Amino acid sequence: MRKKILIANWKMNSNLTDSQDFGFKLKNYSKEISSVDIAVCPPDVYLLTLVNIFKESNVLVGTQNMYHKEEGAFTGEISPKMVKDINAQIVILGHSERRQYFKETDGEINLKLKAALKHNLIPVFCVGEDLETREKGKAPEWVKNQVLEGLKDINSSDAEKIIIAYEPIWAIGTGKICSGEDANKIIKMIRGTIKEKYSEKVSDKVRILYGGSIKSDNFSEHIKYDDIDGGLVGGASLKYDEFTKIINLAANIKNTKVNA
Ligand code: 13P
Repeated sequence: MRKKILIANWKMNSNLTDSQDFGFKLKNYSKEISSVDIAVCPPDVYLLTLVNIFKESNVLVGTQNMYHKEEGAFTGEISPKMVKDINAQIVILGHSERRQYFKETDGEINLKLKAALKHNLIPVFCVGEDLETREKGKAPEWVKNQVLEGLKDINSSDAEKIIIAYEPIWAIGTGKICSGEDANKIIKMIRGTIKEKYSEKVSDKVRILYGGSIKSDNFSEHIKYDDIDGGLVGGASLKYDEFTKIINLAANIKNTKVNA
């Protein structure tokens, strides 16, 4: 049985005071939650502050990106070794905003995934199609290709440690939600792709999340599906009350899941 996980992606938002307030409140709240994993990915300048706040709690902290090299003359980048050095545990890779605005390619994302795994960081590998691809009916093949390119030359014992996040670009920050049924279809396809490439054992272990305009009033439609193992939450994760309501939905769903 895969443990569900809710990951906050704050993107380039928040500030030191709000990050700390959120951190202390979430740390307190997390003491009551053991059935669901929780992670927070703030902007890098607040990373160490949150690592320190969440020390001795079960909340994971991570970054939203990193470079694949360990060190060197790469102005403006941070390395997996540095993320590990401050005891952060998780890293979002290949987010569509990185692909779109910073021109990250499947090949680079593959290198970053390998670098994260080498340093024992949990990678959250993002995939998802744009509106045009969806409207042409090509979302499944687009996403399958992203998954396979990202996982190139990664062995099965590493692959099972990766969390995959399916985030259709047209549903990110738009308020347009991809229905639970549609998200489940793509997520099942991703799990099938993992099974084909590796084995059923690996595909049973990999956690696959939905992301895109998740709110506390729509997420029960997604989390009820067996194959959807949690969520990668943007805007709604900046508000403590809203994010914890979303976590509560995942924590309370266990007996009513739908295997569609
Ligand atoms: P929103 O939840 O703001 O749509 O963002 C989703 C996302 O991109 C999380 O990584």
